Amino acid sequence: MTVFLGIDIGTSGAKSLLMDDAGRVICAATTSYTVDIPQNGWAEQHPDLWWNAAVETVRGALSKGAEQGVGPDDIKAVGLTGQMHGLVMLDGGGAPIRPALLWCDQRTGEECAEITEAVGAKRLIELTANPALTGFTSPKILWVRKHEPDNYAKCAKIMLPKDYIRFKLTGDHAGDVSDASGMGLLDVAGRTWSDEVLEKLDIDKALLGKLYESCEVTCSITAKAASATGLPAGIPVVAGAGDNAAAAIGTGVARDGRAFVTIGSSGVVFAHASKMTLDPGGRVHTFCSAVPGEWHIMGVMLSAGLSLQWLRDHTLSNIASDAAARGISPYALMDEMCSQSPIGCNRLIFLPYMSGERTPHLDPDCRGVMFGLSGIHTQKDLIRSVMEGISYALKDSLDIVHAMGAPVDSITACGGGGGSAVWRQMLADVFGCSVGAVQSQEGPALGAAILAGVGAGAYPSVPHACDLLIKETGSTGPDPAATAEYAKFHRLFKSLYATMKDEFKALAAL
Ligand code: XUL
Repeated sequence: MTVFLGIDIGTSGAKSLLMDDAGRVICAATTSYTVDIPQNGWAEQHPDLWWNAAVETVRGALSKGAEQGVGPDDIKAVGLTGQMHGLVMLDGGGAPIRPALLWCDQRTGEECAEITEAVGAKRLIELTANPALTGFTSPKILWVRKHEPDNYAKCAKIMLPKDYIRFKLTGDHAGDVSDASGMGLLDVAGRTWSDEVLEKLDIDKALLGKLYESCEVTCSITAKAASATGLPAGIPVVAGAGDNAAAAIGTGVARDGRAFVTIGSSGVVFAHASKMTLDPGGRVHTFCSAVPGEWHIMGVMLSAGLSLQWLRDHTLSNIASDAAARGISPYALMDEMCSQSPIGCNRLIFLPYMSGERTPHLDPDCRGVMFGLSGIHTQKDLIRSVMEGISYALKDSLDIVHAMGAPVDSITACGGGGGSAVWRQMLADVFGCSVGAVQSQEGPALGAAILAGVGAGAYPSVPHACDLLIKETGSTGPDPAATAEYAKFHRLFKSLYATMKDEFKALAAL
């Protein structure tokens, strides 16, 4: 049998997935972990948390695969994906120097200003296709250099989360252009490190890894990694992609006109673009795609699933036990409760800016707001307001993508939220267009496995592999009456941020 392995290092957990060459998901193993929040607005994870989770899930997938007659020797290549932007720093011996600073960490407002000053706002967008954003990697590097000079002095290698797993699996220091696009150091048009940016920020290029297109083979599994994971030594590992670029492949978004929306920890609206297009305001990102020589544009909201997870874990602490008592998942229970509240949640609006926001506000200081609370509101309204707030924020991204003239003919939903029929209907109604579903919600891990298959020569190209392997299983159309009703609340949602913009800054300064 010919099988490909995709490993996804997410924010709330890791996943390893086995796919056969017909695109069938044979099995997947997952493990969860948490984000450390040492201070308000900070977010860290130790790279060894990821490595241990990768080993556990690879072993888990191998043992589930064995039950279906798949042996380790059937695995012909490995693909990697994971949360983007995180700063991993290794010392000369290859050990992590400190916990990684994650994509949702907001501590680097000052460093972003320094980068903009050093490179020039316009020049920075010309070179890296994006402005300096707190989530990106380059300001994190400057933060460590300024605040932890001893750590910086020890640093011999800088890499992204999934590339730490590559380093542990193969000993190789390498990355791919889609994930590297989110570092703020890549010449996104030329798909290479930007010497000009590196020079202006005084960052030594030798700290960075070698770059590849996502489906290219970077190196192979070492004997040491083989004995840790149970994988055969010597099988190739392809470059892989950042989680969104990989999710695009796992959702079949690899040609112009195709787009997806995902609700994972973050929330993303992603459109494929064979030509490079920029938002002059830098509100949506232009990154290299996992299709060689092409790009994508995407709007990113920082706290999508994270907002709902917060509600479940810290506010409605009965949800987990109520769901367990009924033998359903907490999210299935929340879907059910959401459906019992009307559109507009009895006049309650949630602003999902719990970690600050990227698209469309580029504001690290804004925070979550529950607007309009009254004694009549129940848990059902709270849940619905969080789901609606996330949907309005995603619509803000979609509106910018449309305004950039990107052709969007179809939108597919993926990620945890994409698997929910309630949420897909809400997105279709809020967006005012159909939202499709694909058979597998495994997005990034499946995309990584497909990239591994292309690297191993099983398919002629990434778009061909998508055409062959990914099929839409259905589509949810909008209800025009609901679209009109949501539009009223969305207008108010938008004006609330504008009204509170300065107050968020004042709150952050207290
Ligand atoms: C993308 C982004 C998030 C992370 C975590 O720019 O920051 O989507 O990749 O999933």
